[in-house]
Amino acid sequence: MRTSNHLIGAVNFLTFLLSIPILAEGIWLSSRANTTDCMRFLQWPLIVIGAALMVVSLAGFAGACYRNTFLMYLYMWAMFFILVALIGFVVFAFAVTDKGSGRPVLNRAYSEYYLGDFSGWLERRVSDESYWVKISSCIRDSKVCGKMGREINGIPETADMFYSRKLSPIQSGCCKPPTDCGFTYVNETIWITGGGLVGGDPDCTRWSNDQELVCYACDSCKAGVLASIKHSWRKVSVINIVVLILLIIFYVVAYAALRNNKRMDNDEPYGETRMTKAQPSWIHL
Ligand SMILES: *[C@@H]1O[C@H](CO)[C@@H](O)[C@H](O)[C@H]1NC(C)=O
Repeated sequence: MRTSNHLIGAVNFLTFLLSIPILAEGIWLSSRANTTDCMRFLQWPLIVIGAALMVVSLAGFAGACYRNTFLMYLYMWAMFFILVALIGFVVFAFAVTDKGSGRPVLNRAYSEYYLGDFSGWLERRVSDESYWVKISSCIRDSKVCGKMGREINGIPETADMFYSRKLSPIQSGCCKPPTDCGFTYVNETIWITGGGLVGGDPDCTRWSNDQELVCYACDSCKAGVLASIKHSWRKVSVINIVVLILLIIFYVVAYAALRNNKRMDNDEPYGETRMTKAQPSWIHL
């Protein structure tokens, strides 16, 4: 009798467990200093969805334990909106991170990033001057470029060592001039700008050896930020899709169980079930 209540309780417990990876993603995104840390608005949807899922699944769990039909229906409605929000987020994440990635550079281990390779809503948002002022100062404050220096036995790394390093999109886009400019390496963030504007790239004139400026005004820096967001959002989206599929399955199971409960409520005046109905709910658990 009333196995459907146990089922709903179990489903809610699993849903509760699923809210943990979603919340963890939001926290992971915010802990990635110097990338999405500078784009705070991006991790909020995940934190809100994760927290809502946690609260609602606890309500559903309580509803199933105490056989509170009102809580159960509230749960079904809230869960429906959470599912819609999560679907919306996954679609949005794929839509805004649709295009763009790094380009390989001859004789360099790192890729370089071009704003022209990116497009869409996120690109316009990041490129927007008023917004870029905030993002670039955030990147500067994170000191990502200053931390890029490496020493081997107390000696700063040479150009060849630097060229054979893997760099993050932000390091590559914001902390050094584009290779096209033909500048000469001194250290990671100091370059002799003698070589002339070989590539004719406007970023070559934006580059500065002032450690507070480096390439923060460059288009390559904006492209690096976009590539970095794309990278972490794609990871997050994979988890979100898995969570979404499981949630939909659980939702359907909970819905079927709830319908089953209702039918049994209607049938109950017959036979021994009348007695069980009068008993406190914990007897069934
Ligand atoms: C490069 O040298 C300058 C001047 O000595 C220094 O301020 C800067 O921190 C160095 N860059 C890195 C990444 O170590």
